[in-house]
Amino acid sequence: MRAASITGYGAPRDVVKCADVPDPDAPAAGKVVVRMLLAPVNPADLLTIKGNYNRDVEFPFIPGTEGLGRVEAVGDGVATVRVGDLVIPMPRNTWQERLAVREELLIKVPASGPLDQLAMLKVNPATANGLLCEFGPLEAGDWVMQNASNGGVGQYVIQLAAKRGIHTVNVVRRNDRGDALRDRGATVVLVDDLSDPERLRAAVKSATGGAHIKLGFDAITGPGTDAMAAALGDGAQLVVYGTQGRAPSQLDGRRLFQHGLALRGFWLTAWYRSTPLDKIASTLHRLADDVAAGFLRSDIEAVYPLEQVGEAAAHADRSGRSGKILIALDPETA
Ligand SMILES: NC(=O)c1ccc[n+]([C@@H]2O[C@H](COP(=O)([O-])OP(=O)(O)OC[C@H]3O[C@@H](n4cnc5c(N)ncnc54)[C@H](OP(=O)(O)O)[C@@H]3O)[C@@H](O)[C@H]2O)c1
Repeated sequence: MRAASITGYGAPRDVVKCADVPDPDAPAAGKVVVRMLLAPVNPADLLTIKGNYNRDVEFPFIPGTEGLGRVEAVGDGVATVRVGDLVIPMPRNTWQERLAVREELLIKVPASGPLDQLAMLKVNPATANGLLCEFGPLEAGDWVMQNASNGGVGQYVIQLAAKRGIHTVNVVRRNDRGDALRDRGATVVLVDDLSDPERLRAAVKSATGGAHIKLGFDAITGPGTDAMAAALGDGAQLVVYGTQGRAPSQLDGRRLFQHGLALRGFWLTAWYRSTPLDKIASTLHRLADDVAAGFLRSDIEAVYPLEQVGEAAAHADRSGRSGKILIALDPETA
């Protein structure tokens, strides 16, 4: 069978290749062979490929943090999935045509769901859900604020917040995505490069009528962290969850002691490690139902066949996209 493979770190276009690898054996008791259908290219995949994330990989390495597959064969004793079911495998290394997975590490998703949207379930919707659920109660009418709002996580934050009646201030760095975000349920969209805290604070105050912003999500860091902090209400929490700007966070310390701001972090990997499997499953099932109902979705810019996986990764590494890049791992989805 075929898989994406890297034999060393480097630029995605240079190092990500489509290679022949051994097929998994017929599934042992309690195991399932999954024929993979689609997988997105996420920032964490790009960081891993470049050697900027998890440097303890062994080469040759098959990238891929998530994806969607169809059960192809089940071992003795497997009771929760059947051949033909659509599943999300919890293990990584998903950019390959087949995966052998223990039964309990599969999340069954609705057969009626859009395959491309379900393929993105495990990472970004779960992250958006964590951001909105893990930092104290939010009620209808509360305000949250985020940057990188037109990215995958940003779009899911908007939709999940809107479903609960939570208002969102969404900062983007370009002005061609406002209508798309408002269509998803964004309350306010602001174009700002996060370089001037006072300018952003004033813009947020004006756009929200001086609303108290209770929670902020920062995926950029650098000077952007301080700009986000300046726009939040007293006693708010600012949660850093990404470093898209590549520079270390800057923060005027007075915001902590004069305004009672708390700086927090969220890492989905830690959430998956520390959360019981039944809670993970119920969270993903709820999100999958929202995806299947067409309520929860993220824009997609392109789908590449597995043989062009290097181009797919290079495309995902470009800014200014209108959506995610997916890899089709099976003729059913190519
Ligand atoms: N902590 C966690 O557990 C966790 C989980 C999932 C994702 N993440 C992180 O969350 C971030 C977003 O992930 P994603 O999948 O949503 O990414 P994505 O779909 O690729 O979107 C990236 C977003 O970041 C914006 N952006 C990139 N560089 C920027 C910069 N220098 N200044 C301002 N905006 C910038 C992009 O804006 P344009 O559209 O204008 O290019 C886009 O909105 C990534 O850093 C990722 O690693 C963290």
